[in-house]
Amino acid sequence: MKNLLISLFLIVCISQNGFSQKKIWDETANEKTERLAWWTEARFGMFIHWGLYAQAARHEWVKKNERISDADYQKYFEIFNPDLFDPAEWAKKAKAAGMKYAVITTKHHEGFNMFASEYTDYNIMNTPYGKDIIKQWVDAFRAEGLGIGFYYSLIDWHHPEYTIDRVHPQSASTTEEYDALNKDRDMGIYRAYLKNQVREILTNYGKIDILWLDYSFPGEFGKDHNDWGSVELLKMVRELQPEIIVNDRADLKDYQGGWDFTTPEQFKVKKWPEENGLRIPWETCQTFSGSWGYYRDEHTWKDNKQLLVLLIESVSKGGNLLLNVGPTARGTFDERADKALAEMGEWMKVNGRSVYGCTQAPDIFEAPDNTLLTYNPKTNRLYIHLLDYPMQNFLIRGMGDKIKYAQFLHDASEIKMGKPYGHWIAQETEENDINLLLPVTKPNVEIPVIELYLK
Ligand code: GLC
Repeated sequence: MKNLLISLFLIVCISQNGFSQKKIWDETANEKTERLAWWTEARFGMFIHWGLYAQAARHEWVKKNERISDADYQKYFEIFNPDLFDPAEWAKKAKAAGMKYAVITTKHHEGFNMFASEYTDYNIMNTPYGKDIIKQWVDAFRAEGLGIGFYYSLIDWHHPEYTIDRVHPQSASTTEEYDALNKDRDMGIYRAYLKNQVREILTNYGKIDILWLDYSFPGEFGKDHNDWGSVELLKMVRELQPEIIVNDRADLKDYQGGWDFTTPEQFKVKKWPEENGLRIPWETCQTFSGSWGYYRDEHTWKDNKQLLVLLIESVSKGGNLLLNVGPTARGTFDERADKALAEMGEWMKVNGRSVYGCTQAPDIFEAPDNTLLTYNPKTNRLYIHLLDYPMQNFLIRGMGDKIKYAQFLHDASEIKMGKPYGHWIAQETEENDINLLLPVTKPNVEIPVIELYLK
């Protein structure tokens, strides 16, 4: 019996401390929570996809989608000159929208560097523009107090040693074809290049808050952590920027320290994502329309309410939203992006309190129909987002003994609690239900929020 208890104790210790796990670095769960605290609190960030593909203006995957050769893609490099680029203006727009951090593509799959690099000529300094975009961007965004994030593509459709795989513009079908295509390519050289470049971006621009590596696709004609040298890469990243927050696309899911948050892309999670039964930090990345890079003729833009729901719903499940802008090749946000950001900012200005520092509500609170709940554990306030504005009576079940005070968030106007109007509803009310008496007219905000002070 004693031996059994000792073994059980050891098993618990081992699994709690993660001895059984492969490791990039040591950090307790509490330390990780602390390191991520600013980001968890922030909830809302801007993604920026910008590169040579902005000139094609038909998706950042244009080189692959149209199987464009290096020679034919070269014209974009030779004319790139975003003469209207004003990062201070971008930063102001991000901030006004309510965003607290931003992540920009330093290099996307096309392989072009928006930063000055000593490891390739295929970088911004050799275009007609000739100035380091990343440097200017970092300075401007930092000046607005925004968190700074770098996206770096693991995939590279320009590097001559990068082996052709199934997502490459020159992708093939059979093993023989791949062998022939790759016979003079040495992935080891690319691996060293990738590490050198990540070192550059994490060394030359001061403190970087987020690193977004993109992406692994294991399996046939694919690439995984061995191809990228992810273990060594992440060790270097942690050493250079110990506080940095890293996404989960370097294929190191079973390594402690190999990733910090998960990244559901272009879809809504059903519930707070978990790993081994534990809730994990997450951030969904979403576009205004179907493309990340500027796409002139794409018209499936989400409306203001859809965008706000994306944000609120993420927070209601304990996650963040990284919302993408694809600037034009002149260096501007197009009018559709400007409009979307401005509208979200209008809402955030008066309702941000239901987003920042908020998370999923404790299970005891059940969301009434057509609402999303968020909760601030520090202030002990509960937020009810009214997606479909109710008719005067707003019945909250089982919470009569928990609510101290109710108000609209946008104007801090009291919402009285009392007997429901209309005798039909009175019959349906139970002991601990509470009824809020809402004005008939929907307040002039896209999604009204009720702020509940809890006992
Ligand atoms: C995908 C796409 C890419 C985009 C990214 C954003 O990995 O390849 O174009 O940058 O998702 O999450």
